[in-house]
Amino acid sequence: MRRAVVERTEQEHIGFGKVILFGEHFVVYGAEALVAGIQEYTSCRLELTRGRPGVSVVDKRPAVPGYIVEKAEEQRLAHGLVFRHLNIDTTVDGVRIHLGGSLVPSSGIGASASDVVSLSRALSEMYGLGLSEQEVNHSAFVGEGGYHGTPSGVDNTAATFGGLISYRRDHGKAAFSRVSFLKPLFLVVCSTGITASTTKVVGGVRKLKEEKPAWFTALLEHYNACVGEAKAAIETGNLVRLGELMNRNHALCQELTVSCDELDAIVNFCRENGALGAKMSGTGRGGLAVALAADAAQSDSIADAVRQRCPAAKFVWKYSVFPKESSL
Ligand code: MEV
Repeated sequence: MRRAVVERTEQEHIGFGKVILFGEHFVVYGAEALVAGIQEYTSCRLELTRGRPGVSVVDKRPAVPGYIVEKAEEQRLAHGLVFRHLNIDTTVDGVRIHLGGSLVPSSGIGASASDVVSLSRALSEMYGLGLSEQEVNHSAFVGEGGYHGTPSGVDNTAATFGGLISYRRDHGKAAFSRVSFLKPLFLVVCSTGITASTTKVVGGVRKLKEEKPAWFTALLEHYNACVGEAKAAIETGNLVRLGELMNRNHALCQELTVSCDELDAIVNFCRENGALGAKMSGTGRGGLAVALAADAAQSDSIADAVRQRCPAAKFVWKYSVFPKESSL
């Protein structure tokens, strides 16, 4: 069992938020996903509570209403899995976790993954574990199991490394690489304000896949063709084509039954107001939609229009993703 080497952490430990551009749900079954880690992050600071066992959380993240309470039990499980994975005993001296940061937790933005990434990094400092980036990512993957039983690993990978990443789970192992691209991506991200349970939605898709295997295989084939083209469009800076492919991916999500009226309303509104393309992002049945804008000015105008005239969108953010040099 590990002993704390410091009473409190000094460094800022973070995990990025993410937006899935292609491949939610299909990635669970081995398909390639394209995911953008965004600049906003969750930060974690730790204090040892000498003589007081257990783990407590002071959660100051600026979440959408209801999110923190609805996710509290899953968060407790996730944190427990990380402590167990890192072999940290809190039965004598406990740990108080302070969460904060600029990321607004809402369903779909990778808040759970950014939580367990930032926690893994902070525990590495407090217990002198010297975790590598890969080990942080793996620890967060284990923690994600608390938030939902069968994570693909795409969220924790984006939360650990940031930037634009191609991710797939190949025979149970994570395989990922940076996607090189020339033009920045300007994204408008809209939340329905509905907190979805990833466990339930992923479980529902699994049931459908088992009931109708041929239908699922056909959808997966369509998706694989779509993401292959999408990667090429990103790499060559063909944003118009990229937008069309986002629309196609959204249609596949609708067939998979993971979209909902609110997401469809947002996606249609963004397209009618100039977006190059738009789709749901993440778990679905609530959560987020993401629209691609041609440039920063267009992302401003889409975001303004959504705020003024799209009641299905309860929260709106603008994110940009810039080419990132570092390798993984
Ligand atoms: C959730 O952000 C993405 C899903 O594909 C689940 C996963 O990949 O673990 C729905």
